[in-house]
Amino acid sequence: MSPGDRAEEPLAGLRQRLGGLAFGGDYNPEQWPPEVWREDVALMREAGVNLVTVGVFSWGLLEPRPGVFEFGWLDEVMGLLADAGIAVDLATPTSSPPSWLAHEHPETLPLDAEGRRFAFGARQHYCPSSPVYRHHAARIAERLAERYAAHPALAMWHIGNEYTGLECHCPVSTAHFRRWLAQRYRTVNALNDAWGTAFWGQRYDSFGHIGTPGGPLLSGPNPGQRLDFQRFTNDAGLECFAAERDIVRRHTPQLPVTTNFMGAFKHPDYWRWAEQEDVVSVDIYPNTWDPEGQVYAAWNFDLMRSLGGGRPWLVMESATGPNVQRRRNSARAPGRMRVLSLQALARGADSVMFFQWRESRAGAERFHSAMLPHGGTRTRTWREITALGADLGRLAELTGGACDPAEVAIVFDWENWWALEGPNHPSQDLDHKTRVLDHYRPLWGANIPVDFARPTDDLTRYRLVVVPNLYLADHTAADSLTRYVHAGGHLLMSYFSGIVDQHDRVHPGGHPGAFRELLGIHIDEFNPLQPDRTHGLRYADHTGTATDWQDVIEPDGAEPLATYADGDLTGTPAATRHHHGAGTATYLGTSPDPDTLRRIVLDATAAAGVTPVLDTPDGVEATRRHTPDGTPLLFLLNHTPGEVTVRLPDDAPSALDLLATDDTTSTTGPLRLAPYGAAVLREAP
Ligand code: GLA
Repeated sequence: MSPGDRAEEPLAGLRQRLGGLAFGGDYNPEQWPPEVWREDVALMREAGVNLVTVGVFSWGLLEPRPGVFEFGWLDEVMGLLADAGIAVDLATPTSSPPSWLAHEHPETLPLDAEGRRFAFGARQHYCPSSPVYRHHAARIAERLAERYAAHPALAMWHIGNEYTGLECHCPVSTAHFRRWLAQRYRTVNALNDAWGTAFWGQRYDSFGHIGTPGGPLLSGPNPGQRLDFQRFTNDAGLECFAAERDIVRRHTPQLPVTTNFMGAFKHPDYWRWAEQEDVVSVDIYPNTWDPEGQVYAAWNFDLMRSLGGGRPWLVMESATGPNVQRRRNSARAPGRMRVLSLQALARGADSVMFFQWRESRAGAERFHSAMLPHGGTRTRTWREITALGADLGRLAELTGGACDPAEVAIVFDWENWWALEGPNHPSQDLDHKTRVLDHYRPLWGANIPVDFARPTDDLTRYRLVVVPNLYLADHTAADSLTRYVHAGGHLLMSYFSGIVDQHDRVHPGGHPGAFRELLGIHIDEFNPLQPDRTHGLRYADHTGTATDWQDVIEPDGAEPLATYADGDLTGTPAATRHHHGAGTATYLGTSPDPDTLRRIVLDATAAAGVTPVLDTPDGVEATRRHTPDGTPLLFLLNHTPGEVTVRLPDDAPSALDLLATDDTTSTTGPLRLAPYGAAVLREAP
């Protein structure tokens, strides 16, 4: 069922209940004695917390032995939260099966590509195809749903936690993969054709002979097999999610169901997952020391909004300070947590939530920051958290509102990502995330709203569609993008696009097979550059550098837009443009330096007639979101450690800064923002 099939906007009930934005985090009371729970609830109220996620890692405590359930402690916690008016996002604890399951059914532990069994001792240690795992997961989900369906604290469901898309190569998964293939291809000959098994004599005579693309292998795996195994793994995880979702929905059809995504994470195909949940939610952890963390976060937030079809989404987890997953985890600058949290709201979130409420004393994440750190309420973090809670209260009118419609879309497709980064390509250094961020960065810097879209979506509402490395493009994708340009749209596509079909087979007739006519070019050779090689690149009156890759482009209808200034390809096109009536198809056959790419991307937006929200100093973000009744709210966010002045347009009406504590009205004059400071201006409708 897609979210659209369900009555009402799925967050409407939550919004009504909370009376504003959600604020809180993961609450893991099972790590603490009951006297601490009372203090927790009192401090949550002090901070303005109104929603907590409970029970994510509690399976072993709720079901200490198979079929023996102990809900007493959870009853007490749910009661305390209900009494305090704090709503609960209750998790099915199925991402971390109990030790007894691993002990009694070691076959539920996944096998990696080398045939090694994962051990119990961390989390997410389950084979998604295992009927034993699925049986036990369904049972605990059913018991939880039965017990808490009518509980006054229960406000939404959180299925599992961060589905990872872990590839399992055990015999159960192998058998499941064979069934999946048989359903997809019907005949083994169709599979042989799709996978091109004539190559290296890989022909199969029976589905029963097919394995997972595990090792050891002497040469590269079959690309079609590899890609189908990624699709299959995605589907196996999604089946686990859907089974638990259906169980909780049966008990509480009125409550929204979600699972927390990991942003632009490679393995699950979140377009497909988002269709299966009521509301998109995300865990967001930009590196605390990354001066560009806000660009990465903005990209992820825009992606989440797009996955949910533009409707409000939730920040399920973020961090008050450092995570502990990198080699060195630096502290976050004072004030930066606030501006990053406001950024999520500016881009369509209806919540700011953290992992986690109280910092753990023990376990792998005992140094992961929290809302209530080891040092308690005397810490800077606590002061910032309570202040943030108050800020969210001031922004309540925003809840449920939509963002300004974007005029630019970036095409982002998980199957393409999997295929693009597969083995045995002209370059093994194709890094899709980096390339997408490279294209997104200039748009972010210019305050141009961006949506993400699948290549097959209706793109006609966008003035410009940016397509980084769409290596895998079947005929539907090719037709969709071609239709878009023929209807007057502007396309900016970058190298190694339109090369293979859905089975990772090269389109016949020369590159870029799916887009030859649209782009008006032929590419007969690829020239990935060695890491230390660059070439001069002439673009209009600017000279920049080409790195990483060169397509050897022969125009066939397109005109050159940029040319190489040196090297074997001197004078030949590095970028081209092909006109189709009012529409244009621009192609970039290399990876330019950031400044040149910025010029190319922003020239394309200008040519397409795209309007930025506001011109702001570097590192200052301007985004517009509306209240549900249509009042525009302009977010001005200073992501820099210095004070900045933002100039509002001369004709801007006077506006109220909702974050100001002293009811100051800022008028059209220049607006000063403190280091990591922010303003949210309520503009005249
Ligand atoms: C993820 C998980 C949490 C926690 C955080 C912090 O988002 O869902 O359980 O591990 O990361 O690392």
